[in-house]
Amino acid sequence: MPFVIRAMSAATLALLFLIGCQPAPPADSRAPVTLPLYTQGDAVAGALIYKEACAQCHQLTPGLNKKGPQLMNVYGAKAAMLADYDYSEALRKSDWVWDADTLDPYIADAEKAMPGSKMLADPMPDSKERADVIAYVSTLRASATSSNATDADATEAVDTDDGVDVLEGAQHKPAADFG
Ligand code: HEC
Repeated sequence: MPFVIRAMSAATLALLFLIGCQPAPPADSRAPVTLPLYTQGDAVAGALIYKEACAQCHQLTPGLNKKGPQLMNVYGAKAAMLADYDYSEALRKSDWVWDADTLDPYIADAEKAMPGSKMLADPMPDSKERADVIAYVSTLRASATSSNATDADATEAVDTDDGVDVLEGAQHKPAADFG
């Protein structure tokens, strides 16, 4: 009898071990941004608006998706690129590329711009605010990407501060605050 119990608990342990070892989906990241900075808005003001209006759902570090996907290197990227985020079918099938022309209506009113998108953010009717946010989003650039890397590598490879380093003269270090 004790042997059976021992055998069972060994099996349970083995099972738990296996469950514990199930790999999380590897952290995915986007290719480096090649579009020039968007300068028709104020990126410093945009960083503050981003913090108020976007950061509760969006992170900037690969692998750290919240309600929404992390947004590092999203400017100029094809929509719904991250393998480790469960996008809506609408976004996956949209064929959109994220530049000012697509970000503007999407941020203005995501549900209207893309019916079926699961981004339930408050609409942003002020076009100046949107231009500022887009300017900020265009500064979110990490040079190193590692889509084939392990979680640890991906976290190491992408220094979220890179996103604001290109923003010359900015006193704000927003990327660091959103962690
Ligand atoms: C209430 C949560 C929430 C807020 C607030 C929010 N988002 Fe989102 N966002 C999402 C979700 C969820 C998705 C995924 C949409 C889908 O799959 O249809 C998304 C998707 C996106 C995408 C597409 C990313 C990709 O990989 O294709 C961009 C760009 C984006 N959001 C930008 C913003 C910006 C900029 C703001 C602030 C103005 C913002 N979001 C505010 C939840 C939010």
